[in-house]
Amino acid sequence: MTAYVPQHAEELRETARAMVAPGKGVVALDESNATCTKRFEAVGAQSTAETRRQYRQLLITAPEAEKYISGAILFDETIRQSTDDGKTLVKALQERGMIPGIKVDTGAKDMPGGRGEKMTEGLDGLRERLAEYYQMGARFAKWRAVITIGDGIPTIGCYKANAHALARYAALCQEAGIVPMIEPEVLIDGSHSIEHCREVTEQNLRIVFRELAEQEVMLEGTVLKTSMVISGLKAPQRAGVVEVADRTVETLMRCVPPALGGVVFLSGGQGHVESSAHLNAMNQRWADRTPWNMTFSYARALQQPALDIWGPDNSKVAEAQKAFVFRAKMNSLASRGEYSEAHEKAA
Ligand code: 13P
Repeated sequence: MTAYVPQHAEELRETARAMVAPGKGVVALDESNATCTKRFEAVGAQSTAETRRQYRQLLITAPEAEKYISGAILFDETIRQSTDDGKTLVKALQERGMIPGIKVDTGAKDMPGGRGEKMTEGLDGLRERLAEYYQMGARFAKWRAVITIGDGIPTIGCYKANAHALARYAALCQEAGIVPMIEPEVLIDGSHSIEHCREVTEQNLRIVFRELAEQEVMLEGTVLKTSMVISGLKAPQRAGVVEVADRTVETLMRCVPPALGGVVFLSGGQGHVESSAHLNAMNQRWADRTPWNMTFSYARALQQPALDIWGPDNSKVAEAQKAFVFRAKMNSLASRGEYSEAHEKAA
């Protein structure tokens, strides 16, 4: 059998490389309206299409963000919105050399069985949606699958169903000239140990990469967005920074082929300083041995301080932008293994 090479292979490779360029990472601004509303309400902000536009405009146009941010993942509502002066948010990103991305899954829904497992939907009509997003300027697309650790779960059926959908979405993305950012997240919720998280993450990644191979997904034009190997938030004893870094990278080295375009991490409910420290330790201790760049693709860990400032009265735009760019800079340093607590204090 001849290997299948997507028509846009070179473009896909280049986009993936640019997403994980040294010292840069991706900001996730793709919260669904429901999630965004939850985050806004927690800081006293109203959530409407207009306030969401204002907030995302603030982040996208933050001075110097392009020094640290390679691209932004948008939500369907956001990719259709514009700045105050009528420029699309996509154009605002492109003008500063940041790559527009789009979330294309339609959410994680309860699986049958009542065990608390989720299955991500969004394949129906995806080919047509991808063609439209490409036309609008999107060059990468995210799909998030969710694996929950709990009593008797994850089941093999949950791993497999989610991995199969990830692989089918990834193949459709590449056909459209769009880099798939595959996100098979293992949730941090629960009281599980780091060792339990390692086992689940390893199993999950092995199944995901097997499915990608079966669907002939070109790994060089694919970016993995993964959770870290970390203790559950309610674990009685939570592992420290070095252990999280080492267990995470060891697991990736066992399961992720060297051809992959790049690895980015989600923050998944870790604090913002913790997220920077973990990324830094991984790069400091492992960057000379891993075949792929490892960087950030955080939502909360990049946005939270800015949202706290902007939320209450939506007025402190410049201050919020500074807080966002500061986190972007901290994570840029961490992606090079050059971050330290002294940098935090210099704020
Ligand atoms: P967090 O960094 O807040 O986990 O968000 C990343 C993301 O894109 C989740 O899908």
